[in-house]
Amino acid sequence: MRRLLTIGFGVGLAGAAGSACGAVSAAGPKVDASVQDANDPDPVFTPDQMAALALLSPSSLPAPPQDISNKMADDAAAAQLGQRFFYEAGFSGPLLDTDNDGSPASLGSPGQTGRIACAGCHLPASGFSDTRSFQRQISLGAGWGRRRAPSLLDVGQSKIVMWDGKHDALYNQVFGPLETVVEMNSSRLFMAEQVYQRYKTDYQAVFGPMPPLGDATQFPQLSAQLTGCQPKIPSDPAPTCDATFHGMPGDHAEFDGLSPANQTAVTRVVVNVGKALGAFERLLTCGPSPFDAWMHGNPSAISRAAQRGAGLFVGKAGCVTCHAGPFMSDEKFHNVGLRPEIVQQAFTDSDDHGAATGIAAALADPLNTHGAYSDGDDGRLPAAVTTAMEGAFRTPKLRCVDMRPTFMHTGQISSLAKVITFFNLGGDSSGYPGTNEIKSLGLSDLEQSDLVAFLQSLDGPGADPMYQHAP
Ligand code: HEC
Ligand code: HEC
Repeated sequence: MRRLLTIGFGVGLAGAAGSACGAVSAAGPKVDASVQDANDPDPVFTPDQMAALALLSPSSLPAPPQDISNKMADDAAAAQLGQRFFYEAGFSGPLLDTDNDGSPASLGSPGQTGRIACAGCHLPASGFSDTRSFQRQISLGAGWGRRRAPSLLDVGQSKIVMWDGKHDALYNQVFGPLETVVEMNSSRLFMAEQVYQRYKTDYQAVFGPMPPLGDATQFPQLSAQLTGCQPKIPSDPAPTCDATFHGMPGDHAEFDGLSPANQTAVTRVVVNVGKALGAFERLLTCGPSPFDAWMHGNPSAISRAAQRGAGLFVGKAGCVTCHAGPFMSDEKFHNVGLRPEIVQQAFTDSDDHGAATGIAAALADPLNTHGAYSDGDDGRLPAAVTTAMEGAFRTPKLRCVDMRPTFMHTGQISSLAKVITFFNLGGDSSGYPGTNEIKSLGLSDLEQSDLVAFLQSLDGPGADPMYQHAP
């Protein structure tokens, strides 16, 4: 990034000269409008840009909206239990892929069990994103997934989650990593039995009586070795299990053999784990940034470049059409014309239809907010898949974006500067499903680096340290 004139110099002059022409009026942020340098032009804002910027930075950042699908969403005891679950590796089945080589970039060695916690891919010290897996693009759990682990900071602001919208609530999201062969490679039956063995008293204090999950005549006792999938090629497992998936619906084994009432009881325990996890996740925030300090009266809180970048973000560059609101996401799905590239040296997610398959899966999910496990349905799920969802992904939030190891759902873009180059070119010309919504922008080099400076000004303090480890 280009070097900027020293901020102190600009501020001093602005203070002496007062608010010069084109600068913002008293209500908005203060800019330094007195340094004459073609390589560092004065930030200038129209009233429309000012109004648009105000929407990004309310006087205080809103708490997560109410989540009526989870009546425990704001329960402190549930959140504390959720925090323990988040850091618990004991729910996971065997590691598979031989890239699990025991180095710090993996979670252990093939065949080892009990190694994969939520925190194994959502690292607290990295804004709850994955800076562990080799190359920091897609995540290595039991095997390789195909997408980048998003940061969980401010995830409580979203109702529908995942890059493709596959889960419509935090309470049902837990079934994703738990019952995926390449993530935790485990199952709801194993998790329910482990909660019974390890957390019974605390679980019951929050959610009431547990079913008799220790009674082997009713509930076959799954071991950590047997839960999950033992795929045909364990050393290189495909993302979808190609063998019996022990402990989940459709296994023709331990789970399917349970009485219908006991199947429901097991699922209910894991839904409640999800409700506790959801309560915890709602506490994870990025927090106020230098950009907010600038918006609320500190003229030198961000560089002149970042100030110009803010104007571009809501103006010429048009970012705010999708990255809207205080968390800079409209929470909708858009196709930005990203041609999947090889990540982690071996994988291309070349046939990823995004929300077209994700929303279809959410609509078909018996655990969704329309169903019996939800505490309320606020109509968050779209009625049907639309053509615009083809190849579309959920707009990522941008607070604390600079903490992310790589960018986009594939992790294929390695820096914010390259993300801006990508948008400036109007995306890739071909190689992705669906229709690209974005157009080339014609930004100069200076404007592009200004946008990067703006994105970097969105860093906040991150999650409270008390949430960054098991309680
Ligand atoms: C093996 C790595 C891995 C593990 C373990 C893991 N995750 Fe994730 N997580 C991911 C990836 C990758 C995605 C994005 C996948 C997608 O969108 O298709 C994700 C997405 C999410 C999201 C959605 C965030 C958003 O903004 O859309 C939430 C919430 C989440 N994970 C929570 C959890 C919880 C809770 C656990 C433990 C029960 C967990 N994760 C375990 C890798 C992991
Ligand atoms: C049409 C809607 C739209 C517009 C306009 C748009 N974005 Fe995005 N942005 C997205 C979507 C969707 C993604 C995720 C795409 C993916 O992973 O496939 C994204 C990804 C990003 C990311 C990566 C974040 C991450 O966690 O990976 C950044 C940074 C970003 N956008 C910034 C910008 C900036 C700056 C602009 C203006 C130049 C802009 N965006 C314009 C929708 C949009």
